Amino acid sequence: MNGAPQANTARYTPGYSANAAAFMSSRTAESHAGFFLPYLRPGMRVLDCGCGPGTITLDLARRVHPGFVTGVDIAAGQIALAEAAAIYQGVANVLFRSCSIEQMTPEDEPYDAAFSHALLEHLADPVASLRRVRSLLKPGGVIGVCSPDWRGFLVAPAPPVLTEALAFYQRLQRENGGSVDAGGRLGEWLEQAGFSNVRMAARYECYADLRLIGEYLAQRIEQAEAIDGAVTKGWIDPGDPQRLAQALRMWQRQPSGLFAQAWVSAVGWA
Ligand SMILES: C[S@@+](CC[C@H](N)C(=O)[O-])C[C@H]1O[C@@H](n2cnc3c(N)ncnc32)[C@H](O)[C@@H]1O
Repeated sequence: MNGAPQANTARYTPGYSANAAAFMSSRTAESHAGFFLPYLRPGMRVLDCGCGPGTITLDLARRVHPGFVTGVDIAAGQIALAEAAAIYQGVANVLFRSCSIEQMTPEDEPYDAAFSHALLEHLADPVASLRRVRSLLKPGGVIGVCSPDWRGFLVAPAPPVLTEALAFYQRLQRENGGSVDAGGRLGEWLEQAGFSNVRMAARYECYADLRLIGEYLAQRIEQAEAIDGAVTKGWIDPGDPQRLAQALRMWQRQPSGLFAQAWVSAVGWA
């Protein structure tokens, strides 16, 4: 763990392993925030909630220059990575803060826009968190959120053991208080939080190298007892985490395989 936080909501299922950080750090605004870029203008003040290692955040900052972006993450270790990336890339119109979005209080100058990528699926009460974000926005401010929806994932080949492994990973996320159908619920969550004119869209992300996602899932499942107490709690039989991790490692070697992750996005206005 890298600066492991005390989550005040759900337990954050992905954790902060090197390979989880690696695939998050490969994200850019162009690759993962394209749905939100048309709403950004130079000079805007933007809040990025759950910014992780900050690669998307830095792109947003370049977009709104001479405006400003604040990236917030509950994990101090992620904030350290994001700050290092900002220095390395020479992006100065950005500030990173280590705190949970639920703890954020309205500032003197409210934000023009709020963004969140791959966060809401990990929260126990995403509507409460979105209400808090709305309180930080100007009236008429825009929000853009994006989360995966496991109901739309396409995986090939998909022998029963692989399906079992993916179902177990989803169980971990649910048991930790998150949602595996978050993508499809973003619209209703935004409306319940008071946002209006909500619009949704979706796209697939296909992993060019299955090892990136396969190894992440394998390691996370292997650690299910150490992190979640999954065997002790009776979520899985002893020996099964190893069996499922091995199946993922065999699957990820297949050059003709597919892991197509369904990402749903939603925009709305405060
Ligand atoms: C899956 S990562 C996404 C990172 C980045 N937005 C991206 O898409 O690459 C989710 C991030 O949200 C952070 N997080 C989880 N719960 C949070 C909360 N309640 N408040 C702020 N950040 C949170 C985690 O520490 C993690 O870095």
